[in-house]
Amino acid sequence: MAGEDEYYGNAQSIAAMKRSAALWSLVRDDPRFTYYGRMVGVSQPVEDTADVMSALARVQGAAPCYFFPKTQIQSLYEALESRGLSTDRHEHFLGGEEAYAASRKALSDHSLPVDIAVRTLDADTPGDFIADTVALMDSCEVMPVPAAMLRGLKCNGACLVAINKAGQPVATASSYFMHPPGGPHAKTVFWGMLATRPDRRGEKIALLLGAQMIVHMWEEKGARAFMTGVRSDNASSTALCNRLGVHDTAYAYATCVDVETLGRKSITK
Ligand SMILES: CC(C)(COP(=O)(O)OP(=O)(O)OC[C@H]1O[C@@H](n2cnc3c(N)ncnc32)[C@H](O)[C@@H]1OP(=O)(O)O)[C@@H](O)C(=O)NCCC(=O)NCCS
Repeated sequence: MAGEDEYYGNAQSIAAMKRSAALWSLVRDDPRFTYYGRMVGVSQPVEDTADVMSALARVQGAAPCYFFPKTQIQSLYEALESRGLSTDRHEHFLGGEEAYAASRKALSDHSLPVDIAVRTLDADTPGDFIADTVALMDSCEVMPVPAAMLRGLKCNGACLVAINKAGQPVATASSYFMHPPGGPHAKTVFWGMLATRPDRRGEKIALLLGAQMIVHMWEEKGARAFMTGVRSDNASSTALCNRLGVHDTAYAYATCVDVETLGRKSITK
């Protein structure tokens, strides 16, 4: 059964998840902030974005600001670097109704390989299976979230896992509401944490799992936009997102990192 303090992953990620969960318990009612289990971040730029991001990064090890205009990122990074922090960046991909339509189409045009079944993590999923799913994420350099989030407890969202005949995870996708309920991005959900075991890549497993996730969040949870961060050199992720109507925008995920505290230079791949 799921415990409140159930974490899996590498030691750095677990330590970071514990710091951000503790911080979130203190700031969750502040509409500047957002969280889906990795880092407490800034939902969109605020007046003193660099100051706020720096403070979050000193406590957690890293902090993203979402919806940050690409045209202004250089001056933000200069301000963060002048404070001794390092910076990181993902392109801010977004898709609305087009993503829902593209996902429905992908699911009607293609099928998962015959040996693959899909499982949704929940309160009754054995801890060993969650640990195996997180090990898959770790091996793909995708930072996980606390088990309570993966199980769909303590959050509004879900984690889907594709399993083979032996019951082992071979791919995973997740999606969570993250932005402040009364704000402009209330129905924009995080979508991603996509990872496929290297020997099962190229079989459209991530495509179909990602599509299932979008359809579920749209139809069952009322999500109306899907956001994810993609590195500009990640060709497979870019192709998959574009295929599902999730495209690059004029924004970036602007991230700053306190490398000593986080123990590495980036939150996730
Ligand atoms: C991204 C990832 C999950 C894709 O998994 P996958 O199961 O092999 O993907 P699929 O087979 O469903 O392919 C989806 C689409 O991407 C395309 N694609 C996959 N790999 C590609 C590559 N290296 N270059 C270009 N396109 C690629 C496929 O052709 C397919 O498009 P199509 O349907 O138009 O042919 C996998 O490569 C992975 O685990 N990467 C490491 C972790 C990662 O980067 N996660 C994303 C973080 S943002």
